[in-house]
Amino acid sequence: MTSRLQSARQTDSIFRTEDLNIYYGNFLAVRDLSIDIAKNSITAFIGPSGCGKSTVLRCFNRLNDLIKSFHIEGKIYYHDQDLYASEVDPVEVRRQVGMVFQKPNPFPKSIYDNIAFGPRLLGYKGDMDELVEQSLKQAALWDDVKDKLKAFGTDLSGGQQQRLCIARAVAVQPDVILMDEPCSALDPISTLKVEDLLQELKEKYTILIVTHNMQQASRASDYTAFFNVEANSKGQRTGYVVEYERTEAIFQSPKQQATQEYVSGRFG
Ligand SMILES: Nc1ncnc2c1ncn2[C@@H]1O[C@H](COP(=O)(O)OP(=O)(O)O)[C@@H](O)[C@H]1O
Ligand SMILES: [Mg+2]
Repeated sequence: MTSRLQSARQTDSIFRTEDLNIYYGNFLAVRDLSIDIAKNSITAFIGPSGCGKSTVLRCFNRLNDLIKSFHIEGKIYYHDQDLYASEVDPVEVRRQVGMVFQKPNPFPKSIYDNIAFGPRLLGYKGDMDELVEQSLKQAALWDDVKDKLKAFGTDLSGGQQQRLCIARAVAVQPDVILMDEPCSALDPISTLKVEDLLQELKEKYTILIVTHNMQQASRASDYTAFFNVEANSKGQRTGYVVEYERTEAIFQSPKQQATQEYVSGRFG
């Protein structure tokens, strides 16, 4: 099987991993990952469940640090800086590399306070009303909520809640937004709204998105990494990237048979 992948070489990359192995204790969850992630683009991670998509995503904002057994071998660079170097503050990393989760998780606070929470915590000195408005506009939610900013975020519809979470992520002016199956709890119309939104957001941010939805990956992303999982010599089910290319290439002319089978829905 492929051990080193052909990465879609980026001239302007924001993240780069080098021979990355990711462990939970003795379990090798993901192996041999060497990829570049392009700036101001949307990169999709696809593949069967358990192949390590979320694990890899959470490495990019050091969210896995919260798991005791987690450790890595190899390197992850963020703007050419070693992301796991001892002087790097994971809290600052998470400010620059925001995250939106599968299940919308607004705070049980007003819409306004959902957005203002992060900036307040960071001591934002600018005009908060303006920041709230801008953030909601960037998340295509302003028109829906401008007359009810004091209403609870948790009372919005699922699709609106997810856009609120996106607004909350952009309010702290991140560099990157990680999204782990952000539409899997949404109806098709809300899903399309979020996909449209992604195209606008990539002008300002770099987006990495895990998705189970092949149409979504092919419609919404610029690059796609297809992950698969296979038993290693210890019998552990380890994930790896089979193929990483421009999205059209993955969907229309994949080089690997496993990719072809997955994207055409024959397995996974
Ligand atoms: N906190 C954890 N502790 C131990 N093993 C984990 C943890 N999180 C995920 N795993 C394991 O790592 C592998 C990859 O999981 P995950 O990244 O969630 O895959 P995916 O997102 O592709 O479904 C799976 O075998 C999963 O059981
Ligand atoms: Mg996952």
